[in-house]
Amino acid sequence: MRNNNSLISIIIFILFSIFLSTNEINADDNCSTLKQAILFYKAQRAGRLPDKDISWRGDSVLTDASPGSSFDSNGDGDLSKGYFDAGDGVKFGLPMSWTMTMLGWNFIEYSSNIESCGLTDLYLNVLKWGTDYILASHLSDNVLVAQVGDGNVDHSVWQPPEFINYVRPVFLINSSYPGTELAMEAASALAAASIAFKSSNPSYASTCLSHAKALHNFGNTYQGSYSVSVPQASAFYNSYSGYTDELVWGSVWLYKATGDSSYLTLAENYYTTNNVGYAGTSNSFDWDQTATGSSLLLYKLTGKEFYKQMVDQTLSYWSKGGGITYTPGGLAWIREWGPCRYAMSMAFLATVYGTDSSLQFAQNQLSYVLGDKTGQSFVVGLGSNHPINPHHRAAHHSTTNDINNPVNNLYMLYGALVGGPGSDDSYVDDRSDYTKNEVALDYNAGFVGTLSYFAKGSSSSTTTTSTTTSNPTSTTSTTTSNPTPTTSTTTSNPTSTSTTTSNPTSTSTTTSNPTTTTTTTSNPTSTSTTTSNPTTTTTTTSNPTTITTSTNPTTTSTPATTTTSTSTTTSSGDGTTTSETTTGDLVTSGDSNVTPTVQPTSSSSTSSGTSTGTSTGTSTGTSTGAPTGTSTGNSQNPPGVEKDGSSSDALSLGDIIPLSIITLFILSSIHLLLNN
Ligand SMILES: *[C@@H]1O[C@H](CO)[C@@H](O)[C@H](O)[C@H]1NC(C)=O
Ligand SMILES: *[C@@H]1O[C@H](CO)[C@@H](O)[C@H](O)[C@H]1NC(C)=O
Repeated sequence: MRNNNSLISIIIFILFSIFLSTNEINADDNCSTLKQAILFYKAQRAGRLPDKDISWRGDSVLTDASPGSSFDSNGDGDLSKGYFDAGDGVKFGLPMSWTMTMLGWNFIEYSSNIESCGLTDLYLNVLKWGTDYILASHLSDNVLVAQVGDGNVDHSVWQPPEFINYVRPVFLINSSYPGTELAMEAASALAAASIAFKSSNPSYASTCLSHAKALHNFGNTYQGSYSVSVPQASAFYNSYSGYTDELVWGSVWLYKATGDSSYLTLAENYYTTNNVGYAGTSNSFDWDQTATGSSLLLYKLTGKEFYKQMVDQTLSYWSKGGGITYTPGGLAWIREWGPCRYAMSMAFLATVYGTDSSLQFAQNQLSYVLGDKTGQSFVVGLGSNHPINPHHRAAHHSTTNDINNPVNNLYMLYGALVGGPGSDDSYVDDRSDYTKNEVALDYNAGFVGTLSYFAKGSSSSTTTTSTTTSNPTSTTSTTTSNPTPTTSTTTSNPTSTSTTTSNPTSTSTTTSNPTTTTTTTSNPTSTSTTTSNPTTTTTTTSNPTTITTSTNPTTTSTPATTTTSTSTTTSSGDGTTTSETTTGDLVTSGDSNVTPTVQPTSSSSTSSGTSTGTSTGTSTGTSTGAPTGTSTGNSQNPPGVEKDGSSSDALSLGDIIPLSIITLFILSSIHLLLNN
């Protein structure tokens, strides 16, 4: 009897220990998490939506169109689809294209894992929604749409995209206003897509590839920085690292997609001449700084040691003690604004690199953002204690142009990775704190990638997004004009129908009433404007399910974060380059959603007041000038210390809890034995 009991205890103990130790990689859970992370992109869709996968999103910005284009049979403009950038309604070409490159790359690496989760169709559908838009925005060989919507105008109003009822300007790059970063990134995205779609949709794959070649040629032949040509982009997605990294990146992708060695030669020459590899070694991998992605791809494609060294140096910098800041809970924290997304894009690279220590790094970072380390999840709707109030106009769904009303977001933006904590793990689920609570296309890119690596093994597709049903639209949109100071010295009075000029490349379309499907005139050259129907008549109410979770009533927060600080430039010995702007540490400033609020400088042209209805303002802002946000740059030089020691994470709460459970179990087993 005694023996039996103790045997049972021991067996139970062993089983329990195995359960605890394998618990960290739970493929099934990761499949459902992955599904939600992919579905986030469906919540970002613009245009006429072909499905109700996100029940609370509706058609929007149907009149987005390039100059002189014709409208389709539904009356929709050629640029009406694609993805909104973040919690706003602007389509920014660079981060959107980078995200599609990442999603394509991820599929190339992990399609079998994605398939094993039953998510292939969903995944490719999401990828194609983005690449379709890139194809549509490639107006001719040397003309590419850089942006639809004016950031300052858009951000001055807090309303869901379904309420946008004014004509939006379209900004282009061409041979006289070049934009190498953008052309190369679009080329990369389409090259990656041509590989991703090769087996399932060969004709689409070849369309992507021919556009990729043309875009690569455009970017390479007419070299210049896109954020100089399109100042409207620079206030939000300025190219700090210049375009030499994208020259490499685009060339590598074309080589990967075509096997044509002339692209490899170009890539290697640009890489060497501009010291591109070093630029990434104490930095992030993101929509601006693509160096480490190139180093990794070049290493995998050529096997050359130098590229490997660059990857090793980067991962060394990102490991604990390697130079980057670690939060007490274990997040590799590179800067204030959106640290989780940088950790996730580096984690994705680490999975592709695939050494024991890099995989450990990736797992630690993923565990952190999922809340396993500190008990705080940074993914909306997932995990215990997760955010519910990301900085997102559609999910919040204010009908009063008020970021504080309603108190909680009306809809749960499942699967969205939020910005993340301060360097001390501090975090408040406060919508107005966009450094911590913004979500964006590029944020989820590395997150989806890292999850895809860990989601292998499961067999069937999983959960569905719970959520609401019914009509997203609601009430007549009252547009209050800008409640908060505007970013930068611009214009952009949302109520006025005025305009400004400034950018030669911008061409603002003229449309008529957005509700009617009619043609439009549109003057390609002039920067003119128009109105559009000032009175939105979108009635319909019915707000469906409200988010039940309450929490977070307290949240105060400091919108005026703005940590100006050391934005050191670790310039990477980029001696020679011609037109290159600084290399080195990018200062995350003008990152996406520069919502009014911040901007410590700048004349705040507060135009409060409650103007109703309108919200025209196709002001093609003059917003030149200093990019907003400011940032942080923690940029110590990488001392080249310790190699990826990430596995030496400090013991966090997430580690302690299972340990104490084991201890308890041992104690109770002993107790049981003794009692017997
Ligand atoms: C997914 O995988 C990561 C890495 O192994 C792990 O930390 C996490 O707990 C898993 N589960 C979920 C729900 O994503
Ligand atoms: C580039 O675009 C600008 C503004 O739309 C236009 O004035 C210029 O003629 C274009 N250049 C070429 C070569 O098409």
